[in-house]
Amino acid sequence: MKVIILENAYEISKQAAEIFIKQINKKPGSVLGFATGASPVETYKRIIESYEKGEVSLKHITTFNLDEYADLDRENVNSYYYFMKDNLFGKTDVDFNKVNFLAGVKHEDAEAECKRYYEKIKEEGGIDIQLLGIGTNGHIGFNEPGEEFMDTPFLVKLTQSTIDSNKKYFEAVGTEMPGYALTMGVGDIMRSKKIVLIATGASKAKAIKELIEGEVTPHCPASILKLHSDVTVFLDKESASLLGDR
Ligand code: PGA
Repeated sequence: MKVIILENAYEISKQAAEIFIKQINKKPGSVLGFATGASPVETYKRIIESYEKGEVSLKHITTFNLDEYADLDRENVNSYYYFMKDNLFGKTDVDFNKVNFLAGVKHEDAEAECKRYYEKIKEEGGIDIQLLGIGTNGHIGFNEPGEEFMDTPFLVKLTQSTIDSNKKYFEAVGTEMPGYALTMGVGDIMRSKKIVLIATGASKAKAIKELIEGEVTPHCPASILKLHSDVTVFLDKESASLLGDR
């Protein structure tokens, strides 16, 4: 794992965006895995800036997002589809026909939807670069801490820690946060050719210590990334604050 500690989120976003921009310019039809949440937002801004300057076109990329809330319409302001439209796709020349998402279906349709998504990733030849945040509990996508690593997409019951971190977005519009989500499995993430993880802020310090210095265990789902051959972790000083001397 390559660990890069930078001054702040802005510096991280410049380097993380550069990895994606270079990849797209090398292979315009790249298959890219994107993430939602606060962590990738600055990186998306840098990609949009490059697009606006004519340095990169997203027209031919195929995208897959990590996860989506269950039983939530994609036009809901808190859906992750909406988030990506708002924070990246709608501000670039992304071809929406090449945008792939787990649909926020009801529980009874989740199994078929997960299978469809797994097959679609395979059909596209796998993901060239997957962008990740990390939960304060060590989750990646919505792979919550548990007894086993999940291989393929599945319906997950969100933990209290995830609900505590994300409910503010739902409270802001007076709605309740769904208790379930559909997510890529850890296996889907690990099958990506390259992985870029971003973490900022002191609230991530414990998860980052477990990711980098702890054992590989499903109690910290991100810890499995140690077994991948091409992972770059971008940290700010706060999220790196519990790491031993490097
Ligand atoms: P955040 O979420 O970027 O909003 O902190 C990260 C995650 O939960 O994976």
